[in-house]
Amino acid sequence: MAGCGSWLFFLTVCVVFLFGANAEIKFTIPVGKFFTYELMRETFQNDFEPLSRIYAGHLYNDPMIFKCNKQNFPDLPEWLRLTQRHPYDNGFLYGTPTSPGKHTIEVYAYNKRSYETTRHILVFKVVAEKMLPYQAEFFIKLREIEKVLPSSVQDEIKQDLQKLWDTEDLEIVNITNALDRGGRVPLPLAGHYEGVFVKVGSEQYFSNCLLRVLTPEHQRQCTAVSRVKIPGGCNFCSVPSNCITWCKTELIDLTKQEPVPPAPTVGLGILEEGGDFNPPESPPSRDYFPDYIVTVIVPLIIAIILCLLLAYIMFGRREGVEKRNAKTNQIQLYHHYTIHGNTDDLRSMAGNRSVTPPLSTLPMFNSRTGERAPPLHSDSPSIPLIAAQHDPYSDTLPR
Ligand SMILES: *[C@@H]1O[C@H](CO)[C@@H](O)[C@H](O)[C@H]1NC(C)=O
Repeated sequence: MAGCGSWLFFLTVCVVFLFGANAEIKFTIPVGKFFTYELMRETFQNDFEPLSRIYAGHLYNDPMIFKCNKQNFPDLPEWLRLTQRHPYDNGFLYGTPTSPGKHTIEVYAYNKRSYETTRHILVFKVVAEKMLPYQAEFFIKLREIEKVLPSSVQDEIKQDLQKLWDTEDLEIVNITNALDRGGRVPLPLAGHYEGVFVKVGSEQYFSNCLLRVLTPEHQRQCTAVSRVKIPGGCNFCSVPSNCITWCKTELIDLTKQEPVPPAPTVGLGILEEGGDFNPPESPPSRDYFPDYIVTVIVPLIIAIILCLLLAYIMFGRREGVEKRNAKTNQIQLYHHYTIHGNTDDLRSMAGNRSVTPPLSTLPMFNSRTGERAPPLHSDSPSIPLIAAQHDPYSDTLPR
């Protein structure tokens, strides 16, 4: 039994690896028709916990975030948009292709609980189809894009508009978040919504109710911000939140030839069609040798000259200074010897004089009294440096 269980486990892993990770979901979408694909969290949850369902029958409810891009490209094709309000909400891929082609879209789901990722691949084949000639765009004020994209809500809106258009032949051409069209982010209060533009198209011409929009009376009422009076027979909203804002309704008649905008005037520097880019000839090569001489060689030569000059002053000239100094030294030596000799002469002459030296030259001579102290034998160790203090209260003589 244990072996069987592990085999089952192995097979499940293989199956998940082969089919879960690499499964491609293919779609064929006609040009000019609105397309929605709901990214179901449950499907991706299955990829994250493939065995929990088999064994325990239990499925986590993980928060996850969807990221989509065209395979090998950083972003989605420009007609395709992704929206997901909250990690606990399903995501939606939606948009209206404008030209035929094939797109391979990678959808990554990031599990915010386990940090696992899983990838699904969607292949869109866009096929050419004739555009619906009569189109109208309506603004639904009390809606948000994620609330409109589920197919049940799209059907509700479509049914209301079919009654308004008075035809069954009606297709949704585009649904746009008003924020993508310059709308304002609403206050985070109940009763404030972002608003959604819904564009529908039909083969059938506009109904009388729709044509009211084109009347001058209606336009005057809209500019005057007064209440727009719509005859009761033209109000078809079954759910209040699906009601359209009449003043933002626009009728588009694609059968009327729009004036072709004038071709842009080609300015200078714009390549003519079909021509190859012919780069201008490279500028003549410049001789940099004079610049090199002026900027490198000349300062180098000046620096060398200055160096040599300094070296000459420091070493070459120093010899001369020494020579002169030697001469001066000789003279000074000569003077020294003569002074020495003269002093000796004077001393011997003074020694010959039999005259007592002046008193002032004798030690301890008091110049005021003329008294002469006996020469002290200051070097004698018997004399204390500090005389003993005489104590006035004692008769005993200091020893
Ligand atoms: C749909 O609406 C978007 C956003 O306004 C716009 O960019 C796109 O061209 C529209 N597509 C069609 C086919 O009208």
